Amino acid sequence: MTIHIGAKPGEIAETVLMPGDPYRAKWAAETFLDDVRRVNDVRGMLGFTGTWRGNRVTIQGSGMGMPSLSIYANELIRDYGAKTLIRIGSCGAMQEKVQIRDIILAMTATTLSTPSRGIFREVNFAPCADWSLLRAAVAATEARGAPLHVGGIYSSDVFYDERPDLNEQMTRHGILGVEMEAAELYILAARHGVRALAVLTVSDHLLTHEALSAEDREQSFGDMVEIALEAAFD
Ligand code: ADE
Repeated sequence: MTIHIGAKPGEIAETVLMPGDPYRAKWAAETFLDDVRRVNDVRGMLGFTGTWRGNRVTIQGSGMGMPSLSIYANELIRDYGAKTLIRIGSCGAMQEKVQIRDIILAMTATTLSTPSRGIFREVNFAPCADWSLLRAAVAATEARGAPLHVGGIYSSDVFYDERPDLNEQMTRHGILGVEMEAAELYILAARHGVRALAVLTVSDHLLTHEALSAEDREQSFGDMVEIALEAAFD
């Protein structure tokens, strides 16, 4: 057990899917995994371990924002030996060509700051996805025929952003979408020599102001879970 995860040694798989929402973790585990058991409920941040096509998988909520994700990813990697961590979540589109419901695979994640800022100080580290996972996720998404974008995203510290000029600069520099967790996941994976990827669905559009309905969110979320599982066990 760690401070934030109640699982016993051996109860967390080497492959971990990380949705922000703990109830999504429950839904995904119950929908896609076999032999599922709940391995964490500390602070309601639910985690489940089961199998997918015979492979052991844990689906653990990360909470919202990089400080929260950092707590869970650190403990999963350092204390439970997680080797492959895939964020599955939503993002806001920042380009006209990106539509609601499209899948974005985050090749890089730009930030203003992350919980690792204190280590890097004046260095602008470039958080990037694991290539083998990215390549496998591209193949899995293309095989489903789902609309796909691969490129840079922006991991923000704020959902209610008071600096529209910053979002404009992101759009200007080709950033596909904004979310709040991937960059720190990529940095932690680099630090500990493990694999990480963020598979995202576009839930809202910063330019057109469209948003996905709750029903559509569930369908898109299911697609992401399957893409993440196929990429992890490619
Ligand atoms: N996650 C989903 N949509 C988002 C947005 N517009 N900003 C930040 N994170 C998000």
